[in-house]
Parts: sequence; structure tokens; C-alpha cells
Amino acid sequence: MSNPSLLILPGDGIGPEVMAEVRRIIDWFGANRGLQFDVSEDLVGGAAYDAHGKPLSDETMAKAQEVDAVLLGAVGGPKYDDLDFSLKPERGLLRLRKEMDLYSNLRPAQCFDALADFSSLKKDIVAGLDIMIVRELTSGVYFGEPRGIFEEGNERVGINTQRYTESEIERAARSAFELAMRRNKKLCSMEKANVMESGILWREVVNRVSADYPEVELSHMYADNGAMQLVRAPKQFDVILTDNLFGDILSDCAAMLTGSLGMLPSASLGAPMANGRPKAMYEPVHGSAPDIAGQGKANPIACILSFAMALRYSFDQGEEADRLEAAIEKVLADGVRTGDLLADEGVQPVSTSEMGDAILSALDASV
Ligand code: NAI
Ligand code: MG
Repeated sequence: MSNPSLLILPGDGIGPEVMAEVRRIIDWFGANRGLQFDVSEDLVGGAAYDAHGKPLSDETMAKAQEVDAVLLGAVGGPKYDDLDFSLKPERGLLRLRKEMDLYSNLRPAQCFDALADFSSLKKDIVAGLDIMIVRELTSGVYFGEPRGIFEEGNERVGINTQRYTESEIERAARSAFELAMRRNKKLCSMEKANVMESGILWREVVNRVSADYPEVELSHMYADNGAMQLVRAPKQFDVILTDNLFGDILSDCAAMLTGSLGMLPSASLGAPMANGRPKAMYEPVHGSAPDIAGQGKANPIACILSFAMALRYSFDQGEEADRLEAAIEKVLADGVRTGDLLADEGVQPVSTSEMGDAILSALDASV
């Protein structure tokens, strides 16, 4: 059998810096755990625009469709701010999501004990937090028609339409139930069925899908209450399923419970391919951080945790993903900090590659 394939798209700004550390981690798993990947690397975003005048070439798009998983760094930067909308670095990312039809966006909010002081909430409310938000990513109000700004009488009206088909709800729900089965078999679905017809349909379809997952304890919550509960008592949740708009807001809210942007991974999954693996792209939540790019200051953990998600969700290597996360936990517990994780001035921050070194040593110690 051939090795699983990975396409690495480092992108712009700190993207290449954090991805360099991920490559060392990938090599470590190859050398020490017999996990060999066929890794190829290509351009996306501003880097691709500089090379061939487009934020993602057709060749790179075709490659992304063929591989088992895509790992992306970050795109964008001030240099590209004045480009035409269709050429902006972000368009490269959107094209990947759209053409791979990545409809299920997984955003974990996990609080490493060593960083619990970082949260804006009290330590005991977030310590040990480990929840996952599944956000429908390809439909809903960001895509529904009609949309636009129209003349109506003697004023203008701005219109967006929240629109969900049963099949769109169903596939997002299935991915959330599958995830719940791999975790703690607890799922909370959030919409506003009290005021939105799309929410009524959402709830009905989720209930229908739940018949296929009798072991999963399903609950429903109005999304506004969900937002309150997330900051009041986030540990009551395990997997949360929600639509594109509410998911955008709820996942950012949940993510910040845990501290720094430099710690947050994500996965975007689509339909199963012929080999049974889902179409998949893994990327940190943060952007290209132009303010610190090129200085060796970036925290590589968000990108490394994104690779851990790839191990778990694309390659069925949950134990190795646990190993990697435990190594990161250990390094943080030892007090190793990049600049973004520093609370007080006295502590010396480590560089991007020193953080990589520390994680590799912890991995060495784990075998
Ligand atoms: P950003 O996430 O790049 O940076 C926000 C702040 O967080 C900055 O102060 C930055 O230094 C810090 N930060 C982010 N990641 C960090 C890390 N790994 N380690 C240490 N500090 C980190 O968001 P911003 O500044 O709004 O956008 C900058 C550029 O990135 C823009 O061109 C934007 O369009 C693009 N962007 C790209 C995204 C992507 O590729 N998925 C997502 C968000 C923004
Ligand atoms: Mg957002």
C-alpha cells in the first residue's frame, strides 16, 4: 500500500515559519513511529500570486483534490491589500474550501492546564475544558439567495437569506454525530428554531439523523442561550453542532475561552473519498501575523495541533495524535513559552524553532 499523501501549503507571513516546525514533527513520526507520508509542498495566497499571478493555481487545486489531506499555514498580508478582490490571497483559501466542498468545520476549544490563567474567565471554569464546535461551512446566510443591496421605494435595503436544504443539514449533522461517537457521545445542536424556519427544519433533520446514533445523547439549545452557556459553564458541552453564521460567532467565542490565537487548530472536512477518508484541510485559526512575520516569534502550536487533528481525523491515528498533544501539554507545563503566551515581563520567550525543539524532545521522551 502506498503512503498516505499530504499537501503542504505554507502560504504567507508566519505560515512558512510555523509550517517548518510541522515538517519536523511529520519527519519525527516517520522516523520514530513508522508513519510515512508522501509530502508535497506548493504555493497558496500571496506567495502563489507572486509566482504566477493567482492566489491558487489550477495545478495546485487539482493536487489538493487528489491528496489525502491538505495542511495550510496562513495567507495574506499588507503587500496584497490593494489587489483586486478576485486576486486577494484569501481567495485562494476560499477556492480550496469551495471546490473541495468542505462543509464541516471542526473548531476545538481545549484548555491546557498550564495556560488556564490566560483565559478571561476564572481558572476553574476553563481548566480541563475540551469541547468541539462543528460549524456548517458551505451554506446558510453567507451564501443564500436573494442577496444584495436593492432600491425599495426611496431608500435602499440590504438583504441576505438564511437558506438550508435538508441534505445540507443532514451531512453536517452526520459529521457531528460521527465525531460525538469518537468522543464522549454527547451532542448539543444550536439554532434559533423559536424565530427561524431554517432553525425548525434544522432541528427536525438533526432529530431524524439522531435515530442512526442511538448511543449519542442529543440536546438542542437556542444559539443565544448557547452563547451565554459557553461563557457561564463551558464544560457542560462536548460536541456542539451549529450553522454557518452562529458557528462563526460561537466558535470564536469558545476559542477565546482558552487564551491565545497561537494555540488554536481547525479542520475542515467534506464527503468521504473513494478510500473512505474525508476530503480534508487542516489549518491554524490565526492569520499570517504580518506584525511578527520573519522574526522567529510565531507560536507554531496552532499549526502543530492542526497536524494532530489530521492524524486523528484523516489517518485514524488517534493514539499518535494523543501523543503529540501530550508532548505539547508537557512543554507548556514545563513553562516553555513563545511571546504570545507570556503573561509577565520577567520570563524570556523562546523562538518558533525552540518551541519546535522542545516539542520534539518531549516526543522523544514519550517512546
Ligand atoms: P492574525 O491572526 O494574523 O494576527 C492577529 C494577532 O495575533 C497579531 O498580533 C499576531 O501577531 C498574533 N498572532 C497570530 N498568530 C500568532 C501565532 N501563531 N503566534 C504568535 N502570535 C500570533 O490576524 P490579522 O492581523 O487580523 O490578519 C493578518 C493577515 O492575515 C491579514 O492579511 C488577514 O487577511 C490574514 N488572515 C488570514 C487567515 C487565514 O489564512 N486563515 C485568517 C485570518 C487572517
Ligand atoms: Mg470568524
